[in-house]
Amino acid sequence: MVCKIIAHRGFSSRYPENTLLAFKKAVEFGCDGIELDVHLTRDQEVVICHDESIDRTSNGHGLIKDLTLAQLKQYRFDKGYDSKDPFELVDIQIPTLSELLEWLKTKNLEVNIEIKNNIFSYPGIVEKVLNLVTTYGVEDRTIISSFNHYTIQEVKKQMRNMKCGFLTETTQLDPGRYCYDYQVECYHPDFQTLIPQVVESCRDHQIELNVWTVNQANQMKALAALPVHRIITNEVALAKQIL
Ligand code: G3P
Ligand code: CA
Repeated sequence: MVCKIIAHRGFSSRYPENTLLAFKKAVEFGCDGIELDVHLTRDQEVVICHDESIDRTSNGHGLIKDLTLAQLKQYRFDKGYDSKDPFELVDIQIPTLSELLEWLKTKNLEVNIEIKNNIFSYPGIVEKVLNLVTTYGVEDRTIISSFNHYTIQEVKKQMRNMKCGFLTETTQLDPGRYCYDYQVECYHPDFQTLIPQVVESCRDHQIELNVWTVNQANQMKALAALPVHRIITNEVALAKQIL
């Protein structure tokens, strides 16, 4: 099986995570797809950022849910990287999902959209994400994942054919059966929790296995020998070299 390389928050080991810069660089280095996290702003825009707060990754302060898109766009999301290149500056603003999909629609790329609504529920976020995915016509190469499995159920309720993944960070019993029962196509386990029973359960139920976050060469080599469909990695260049 060919294992695809999904750039986790873009090429995030070298470039500022979840920015257009990191996504563009991931493509330059040959990824097959990108992974990103979404939240809702105060004015109900879907934006890409890992944390609920912008403090860790930007020069701003506060929660995304309390800030408007215009307020968020004032900040640089390149903390720890500090771009000096004026051409990069627009690509280190917080991206909206709409901006990302506008760029992605012309690329031969998969996209894994993680809905981050475990802490704040963001009512309406599922409908907004699905509207954007269909507006840009990328539904055939999108996977929607979440640690909030009720959110995945809601995605399936609104759009039965949307490919989805259950995210987990602990070892689950018979996860292939769990995904199958809820008609969810993919299982997204933390790499640390991947034991043979998990791999077998997914294989037996024909569930796609997409593993995060795989950053070391020996881990990549080990996974390449298994029925793993995708590895989600910060180290795009290394993964490209090994896989
Ligand atoms: O989707 C895999 C991975 O991104 C989940 O963890 O915390 O990096 O969003 P996190
Ligand atoms: Ca994520």
